[in-house]
Amino acid sequence: MNIIVTGGAGFIGSNFVRMILDEHKGTYVVNLDSLTYAGNLGNLEGYIDNKNHKFVKGDICDGRLVEKLIDEHKIDAIVNFAAESHVDRSLVDPGVFIDTNVTGTLTLLKAALEKNIGRFLQVSTDEVYGSLGEEGMFTEQTPISPNSPYSASKAAADHLVCAFGHSWGLKYNITRCSNNYGQYQFPEKMIPLMINNALNGKDLPMYGDGLYVRDWLYVYDHCTAIWKVLTETEPGTIYNVGGNNEKTNLAVVNFILDRLGKDTSLIKHVKDRPGHDRRYAIDSTKIMTELKWAPSVNFEEGMSKTIDWYLQNKKWLETIVSGDYQKYYDSMYANR
Ligand code: NAD
Ligand code: DAU
Repeated sequence: MNIIVTGGAGFIGSNFVRMILDEHKGTYVVNLDSLTYAGNLGNLEGYIDNKNHKFVKGDICDGRLVEKLIDEHKIDAIVNFAAESHVDRSLVDPGVFIDTNVTGTLTLLKAALEKNIGRFLQVSTDEVYGSLGEEGMFTEQTPISPNSPYSASKAAADHLVCAFGHSWGLKYNITRCSNNYGQYQFPEKMIPLMINNALNGKDLPMYGDGLYVRDWLYVYDHCTAIWKVLTETEPGTIYNVGGNNEKTNLAVVNFILDRLGKDTSLIKHVKDRPGHDRRYAIDSTKIMTELKWAPSVNFEEGMSKTIDWYLQNKKWLETIVSGDYQKYYDSMYANR
């Protein structure tokens, strides 16, 4: 199978590309990524020159390029990870989220339809369902009700994907996953940000009361779920993917501090994120029963591996935080 993976130099996309090259050797991957601040060829170290991998620097909004790649490489499927992915940034500058997440996805869909691609897999998020109270879980039937510009743009993309299936028979799947953690995550997201700050003895900025709940999934397990949906399902289906690991932010950060041997006095409660979703929890029954998917690690194992990885890859982290990251950090946190 020949596939285009978009956003394959980002956090989850690069983990997905490495998984394929390691474990599914009959697959050829064209990795299309525009290398925004979140894209990093360092995430693909040791894999760039793999004979089953071709990296192309380009924008998913460039329809001509996408069609050329489909023809040139006889593409069977597209897996779309490319996105602006950080909620906080979407609250500062929503426009680019519409450009990539909505217009970019539309561009890919048009190319996939025009070239009669066998499968289009949209990597979506549980955030399209909005927020939960203390009870309940998101199922695939939960109404779409996004709250941030990021989740609104992802929801719009999901609707477009379904509309292309409904109107013109595009063969699609959508996966909606909960919060991922693991190696190569950009340190704007909570877990790597807290690890980096703790390692450097800096304050850990905890939004509001810190009792917001996320359902954490180890990134490799998200990748195996996507692979199963891509290769083992009929088109036209949507699958939730989650870790069944509901944790408050405070519990996650305390775990990190404990593992690093640092003091909880580093935690500083700061001004909350506007419109902050209180709780996410995913019901993954459908993918677990229909596709026999299950996470390979529990939260403690996955987090231990993750923290060890950041400790062993300080150079990767230092390279990132030495660039524009400091400006970003100051603009987000200096007066919080
Ligand atoms: P990321 O920000 O780490 O990576 C995004 C990648 O997309 C980067 O490599 C970037 O360069 C690339 N990109 C951005 N705009 C592009 C464009 N216009 N053209 C081509 N490439 C472009 O994101 P991530 O955390 O790896 O998330 C990947 C996908 O998974 C996203 O669609 C996100 O919505 C979804 N998702 C993420 C999570 C999570 O917890 N991180 C959970 C569920 C779903
Ligand atoms: O649920 C899936 C989503 O998870 C994905 O679709 C998004 O792409 C991904 O970014 C993530 O969104 P969140 O907003 O949940 O992740 P983030 O890491 O930004 O925040 C996790 C929680 O931690 C959230 O309640 C906000 C809080 N937080 C975050 C940061 C960056 C803090 O308290 N302090 C921080 O500095």
